[in-house]
Amino acid sequence: MMNFSKKDWWKQAVIYQIYPKSFQDSNGDGIGDLPGILSRLDYLQKLGVDALWLCPVFASPQADNGYDVADYQAIDPMFGSLDDMRTLIREAKARGIGILLDLVLNHTSDQHRWFQAACQSRDNPCHDYYVWRDGEPGVLPNDMRAAFGGPAWTYVPAVGQYYFHQFAPQQPDLNWFNPAVRQELYRMIRFWMEEGVEGFRLDVIDQVAKEPDRKITANGPHLMEFLRELNRETWGGANLVTVGEAWGANLDRARQYSAPDGTVFSMVFQFEQMVLDHTGNKWEPKDFALPQLKESIARWQKGLHGCGWNSLFWNNHDLPRIVSRWGDDGAHRVDSAKALAVALHGLQGTPYIYQGEELGMTNVDFPLEDLRDLESINAYHELIAKGEPEELAMAHIHRMMRDNARTPMQWTAGPNAGFTTGTPWMKLNPNHTQINAEAALADPDSVFYTYQKLIALRKEHPVFVEGDFTLLCPEDKQVFAYLRRGAGQELLAAVNLSGQEAAFDLPEAFRGCTPLLATQGAPRDGVLRPWEAVLWLRSL
Ligand code: GLC
Ligand code: CA
Repeated sequence: MMNFSKKDWWKQAVIYQIYPKSFQDSNGDGIGDLPGILSRLDYLQKLGVDALWLCPVFASPQADNGYDVADYQAIDPMFGSLDDMRTLIREAKARGIGILLDLVLNHTSDQHRWFQAACQSRDNPCHDYYVWRDGEPGVLPNDMRAAFGGPAWTYVPAVGQYYFHQFAPQQPDLNWFNPAVRQELYRMIRFWMEEGVEGFRLDVIDQVAKEPDRKITANGPHLMEFLRELNRETWGGANLVTVGEAWGANLDRARQYSAPDGTVFSMVFQFEQMVLDHTGNKWEPKDFALPQLKESIARWQKGLHGCGWNSLFWNNHDLPRIVSRWGDDGAHRVDSAKALAVALHGLQGTPYIYQGEELGMTNVDFPLEDLRDLESINAYHELIAKGEPEELAMAHIHRMMRDNARTPMQWTAGPNAGFTTGTPWMKLNPNHTQINAEAALADPDSVFYTYQKLIALRKEHPVFVEGDFTLLCPEDKQVFAYLRRGAGQELLAAVNLSGQEAAFDLPEAFRGCTPLLATQGAPRDGVLRPWEAVLWLRSL
């Protein structure tokens, strides 16, 4: 049971991310909800996770699946009520599990009452809550583009101005330069703290200090000043876990965000590793080899050791499924899912597991009409408009689309995988008849039990939390191997991230040790089997 009053408890914790819409439906409307999550707490406790990060469950018209918030202090009726949230917080805590809420502070929904008021007149006090520029219809303030396609500016005739939106037009950016906006947000955060949540995930938080006139989005010059104030006015000193999403973070920035003095966040999500296989435009694939990934991980491991904190993840609701992306979702699905799990969970930082990752859930190749994400749908039309042939465009969408992560959780082999008794809001992956929690729990060799074991090991051996990092065989194109040393222990992780046998010589010091964990039975001498992963531990 995690003791949430222990300082830096989150360094030992493993956090499980839930996409509420797709986790468990309780009332047959085809949409996952809070009572559904409540009904699965036993499963999560069995897995051993310490906290649940819930993607936004606040009142929202769902233009971007809840990342367009219309009321930060109301639970969307589709997910339940405030009472349901209170019950979930209480029942989770009784099992030693904390709840993390997802705060979208960069923008609101266009249905938020602030924005509705802002659009009425330039004199409304809420007008300046958003970012406006004068303009004529058809003459945009500048040529900035929005993340989900189209211009970053939308005209409102009633006020004769354009508002700025880094994402969809239904997601107007808040003006953080207005102190009243910041105070409104802080008050709201304190409300949730009083409700007993254990922390927050901060959506695109490095973009709040944008300065569109200078075309600055991430890392605006006033960013750190705003974030330190945010911390002081809310969770500073409260022992919560906070994780900022920061696509624009480099190591230097990450050190500031996750500084041990606790003046900003506990840690950030950075994405350097997660963009290696495309050109920067995620619909344009790029070749990459394992040494690049290892170099990047090693640099972050060393760069934050003792002066910051890493978050560790392969997956989230915006990324394709890791076993399809960098594993083998065919014949080696189980072994490659385990290998990727071991490779990540042996590192220093706080690991995140995205729902279904612990089952080795895979990508889907749905036709356009079954996609639900505005990003992939818009991107498809843009690729076609640019002249990309239909089949190629669809292949590029399938490879990276966020829909991959958002198909309903696969609980059983039965109808709709036990996710809903009604019609699911999004189609299920047809492989749910084979890949599901019920089957995984019944099979001692399933991916689930590898995750369970990894979570338990992190709690048992302090080297997982404290140890430093040394990369072994950096040039090897198949094997990811590293040492962790600290707290009087040394951990060795050796993972074959390929479908072919790989040579690997166990370092002298570990000969004769029994492995802590081995995914394919007793390790062989001098060689790792395809997708085999082994952890060894020794005392120093
Ligand atoms: C973040 C979220 C993503 C959302 C975007 C805009 O990147 O993870 O799902 O679409 O912010 O809020
Ligand atoms: Ca429901």
